[in-house]
Amino acid sequence: MDLYQILMQDHCRTDQIFSVIEKTTAAEAQSREQLFADLRKGLEAHNVVEENIFYPELERFSATRELVGDAFDAVD
Ligand SMILES: [Fe+2]
Repeated sequence: MDLYQILMQDHCRTDQIFSVIEKTTAAEAQSREQLFADLRKGLEAHNVVEENIFYPELERFSATRELVGDAFDAVD
C-alpha cells in the first residue's frame, strides 16, 4: 500500500466515524466523545503526513504544485 492509498484509507475511516457519530443519541454521549477523540487523533496524524510528506512531494511537480497551494488556501 502506498502513501496515497493510506491517506485515502484515512479519508474513508474519517467518513465512517462521522457516520457513526451522526447516529449516536444524547444517551450515548460518552461513546460520542470517544469517537470524536478517535477522530481527532486520526486527523492529527493524517495532517502531519499530508503536510510533511505528501504535499512536499506534490510540490516537486509543476502539474500538481498549484493543487498544494489550493489545499493550503482552503485551510486558511
Ligand atoms: Fe487528507
